[in-house]
Amino acid sequence: MKIFRTLLVGAALLVGTAFAADDPVKLGIDAGKAGAKIDRNLFGQFAEHLGHGIYGGIWVGADSNIPNTRGIRNDVVGALKAIKVPNIRWPGGCFADEYHWRKGIGPANQRPATLNPNWGGVIEPNTFGTHEFMDFLQQVGSEAYVSINLGSGTPAEAADWLEYMTTPLPTALAKERGANGHPEPFNVSFLGIGNEAWGCGGSMTPDTYVDHLKVFARYARNYNAAHPMKKIAVGPDGGDTGYTEAVMKAWKNKVWSWDIDGISLHSYTVVKWPPAFKATGFGEDEYATILKATLKMDELVKTHSAIMDSYDPQKKIALVVDEWGAWYAPTPGTDPGFLDQQNSQRDAVLAALNINIFARHADRVRMANIAQMVNVLQAMIFTDGPKMVLTPTYHVFRMYVPFQDATFVPVNLDAGTYKHGDIELPRLDAIAARDAAGKLWLAVTNVDPTRSASLEIDVAGTKPRRAQGETLAAPKVDSVNSFAAPSTVVPKPLTGRVAGGKVALTLAPASVSVVSIE
Ligand code: AHR
Repeated sequence: MKIFRTLLVGAALLVGTAFAADDPVKLGIDAGKAGAKIDRNLFGQFAEHLGHGIYGGIWVGADSNIPNTRGIRNDVVGALKAIKVPNIRWPGGCFADEYHWRKGIGPANQRPATLNPNWGGVIEPNTFGTHEFMDFLQQVGSEAYVSINLGSGTPAEAADWLEYMTTPLPTALAKERGANGHPEPFNVSFLGIGNEAWGCGGSMTPDTYVDHLKVFARYARNYNAAHPMKKIAVGPDGGDTGYTEAVMKAWKNKVWSWDIDGISLHSYTVVKWPPAFKATGFGEDEYATILKATLKMDELVKTHSAIMDSYDPQKKIALVVDEWGAWYAPTPGTDPGFLDQQNSQRDAVLAALNINIFARHADRVRMANIAQMVNVLQAMIFTDGPKMVLTPTYHVFRMYVPFQDATFVPVNLDAGTYKHGDIELPRLDAIAARDAAGKLWLAVTNVDPTRSASLEIDVAGTKPRRAQGETLAAPKVDSVNSFAAPSTVVPKPLTGRVAGGKVALTLAPASVSVVSIE
């Protein structure tokens, strides 16, 4: 009898726990309210001359057996078109401050071999230069974000590059551009005025950088009146506010001769330098630690935005998070200078959490570039010779396409807590937005890798008829896609159950889901 009672109590406890786990979480969408536009440029990419980021990953040369168009891989272009890459930052990164553009134009067989001291000390063949980058953008349907060399270059060199790329007038540089195959000016949408001037870009104090900024911002002009260009200054390294203060103060007191439109923030999810966390073969400890670290992005954005608000309450200057993502220990056996790392379901969750943070601050954060697009750090795509595989992070970017240029819609959610050891994180994270056609979209991440979540969605003022989309889940938090098994982590259809004017969704552990609600 005693045993029977214990069993009953045990069963009740189990059932109670099961109910607790399955109790629907209420999520309200204030569909009648509208926030800022979620700029499509928040989904920007970064392609540096680093490891196989360009050579092998994008550029194989016209003579390659790998199917290509004028030397650019067709498979990679096709995959990038599907995620509607709005802009690509190039040529670096640290590489940009040692890049001399003239070495990357003209007949390929006459371009000099130079060095890439930052990244493996390898030969830079210069076969992928300005024209190849612009061709690549045109094939992908993306816009140029060019970083000029402020560290080791001169203002005259930067000015000449801009004239070469953008003037429609028949100057000597424009004629040279024509002789190299492009008589029409190129479109340069964004210009980065140096990169990490506080580090690899010259180790400058904020004031020294500001002096350089004023000169380069003056002379690096866009002459293509038909296509405006925005200038982005170097900004903070993570939480350090020195550059934010100095650049914003200089901008506030600026004279007519120079201007900027944005200030960059670089912040990687790394926990501690040098990066030591493994990209695969990890468990829940590392899962929770990395996600806790990545959520600091919210704090960073708030800190820098508050300083920016004090100089620029009208939010004319954008905060451009043009390097973000996970940075892990390099894949064993690879050149550590090539920043090769695998990409798991944890990275999919990490990507969604960061995109959600940017979207919630869309009034100030109007551009972001994940590092990096192909084969480097938190990549979208891996290549190996003729093979290509799409990463879990790629799938998140594809699922989030409807959020590009959509209008932010507030969400109320009692997110609950995911607890692992001493780490406590919000169990769920969600954003909603309305696209140009008026359709409502919801993205929800279930951070908890141990429990599925049931959602009960209420859309204020409407009675939804249908909710459908996709969900990205995986067998394990460190599941990856490989060349041998490319479909371990791929989106699957997700349909909500609609009843009584509410939508019910079930979210798998450690999953990212995007649905439209009609
Ligand atoms: O993305 C790799 C490197 O990280 C970039 O070149 C540099 O800007 C940053 O430190």
